[in-house]
Amino acid sequence: MPTFRAPRGTRDLLPAERAAFTKLESIGRDLGRRYGYRQIETPLFEQVAVFERGIGEVTDVIEKELFRLAARSDEGEAWALRPEATAGIARAYVQHGMHTWPQPVKVWLTGPMFRYDRPQAGRYRQFWQWDVEAIGDPGPAVDAELIELGARFYREAGLDDALLLINSIGDAVCRPAYVAELKAYFREHIAGMPEVERRRLESNPLRLLDSKDPALAVLQARAPRITDRLCPACAEHFAAVLGHLDALGVGYRVEPALVRGLDYYTRTAFEFYRAGAEGQQQALGGGGRYDGLIELLGGRPTPGIGFALGLDRVILALGDSASQEEGASPLAVIVGAEPAATAERLRVATDLRGEGLVVRADLSARKLGRQLESAARDGAHFAVILGDELAAGQVQLKDLQAGTQRPLPLADVARELRRADASHHHG
Ligand code: HAM
Repeated sequence: MPTFRAPRGTRDLLPAERAAFTKLESIGRDLGRRYGYRQIETPLFEQVAVFERGIGEVTDVIEKELFRLAARSDEGEAWALRPEATAGIARAYVQHGMHTWPQPVKVWLTGPMFRYDRPQAGRYRQFWQWDVEAIGDPGPAVDAELIELGARFYREAGLDDALLLINSIGDAVCRPAYVAELKAYFREHIAGMPEVERRRLESNPLRLLDSKDPALAVLQARAPRITDRLCPACAEHFAAVLGHLDALGVGYRVEPALVRGLDYYTRTAFEFYRAGAEGQQQALGGGGRYDGLIELLGGRPTPGIGFALGLDRVILALGDSASQEEGASPLAVIVGAEPAATAERLRVATDLRGEGLVVRADLSARKLGRQLESAARDGAHFAVILGDELAAGQVQLKDLQAGTQRPLPLADVARELRRADASHHHG
């Protein structure tokens, strides 16, 4: 066992896996461009209050999973690592007066998030999200636009079976009465409920609907449904979102038990799952509308909607097909007849790299034959051989694939390699 290991629930992304993440990030970047979202970056940590107020104090994310940073006595502020991106982006919206920008403000962000979760496959303490937000548009059309964007991400990533579950969880007009009804319903059946769920009944009763505890399954199935209790404005909004999704040909399943784990949601709520794994804990992504969040963080009342997908989970779902070609082989390796002349080989390689070419210098003290073997093993197309004639500005260019060799002025090597590279890629 090595002395030091990455902390529990975190992992190293070794180059092959990092390349798979980079591929997903470039899909996100390209979709952002096509859909008119601009990239934004917020700090990896914020004042704790940003998360507590935004996400809700009585949520698992805040109560159990927040990575709090020890407050430093000189600043007296309590910080926490971000468990998600939305609260920080909403804080930035208010701080920078983005309500004066053209609305909606459409942004995306990708980066690591931190939750002190119990680690397992697909559930990490540091994980990566691609997050998109459209702030300042009450919908319903923008809801559908954003959801379609999410569905497209999975398709472009190669996951054709991502399934969309959608619900409306009402707003300040209709939700309080529904929550009261839900509480009364579960209270009647409290005898059959485990202790944790009884506590939830008081603190966050909506979460009883998507609790995975099998003891609740029958109660959940018979519970009153928010979808049947929406006020006219919410019902109309929800119907319009579904109508727009229909018009876009985006498939979905209305899931009345979908309530999401963060308190800021209003109206539209949705999640993506792998077909066959829907409703389990491992969502591929999720989001919803948060029409009260900006105001909670000190801004004026501003509607918003967004979603985030877990890059780690997309990669897990893709399995082997996620792995990317590792860094391409060098076009050429600079080798030399004089093993000790590493400065010479390095200088030639450096000049060629300056010309934009992908080359490696053999920095070993091996004999020329060994250097050439190693270049071939690397998959290099050419070896540039430096010898005595370098003093006269001449080198040998060996085509390792064809097995041919010819002398060439050093000054022509870059042009020659570039020409061979171009005909190799486009020929
Ligand atoms: P969330 O549902 O908490 O929503 O997380 C979104 C996605 O992040 C999940 O569906 C999952 O793919 C991934 N994820 C969450 N926790 C973990 C974990 N411990 N390990 C690996 N992946 C994880 C949000 O974060 C909201 N901010 C989404 C949003 C944006 N709503 C509005 N705007």
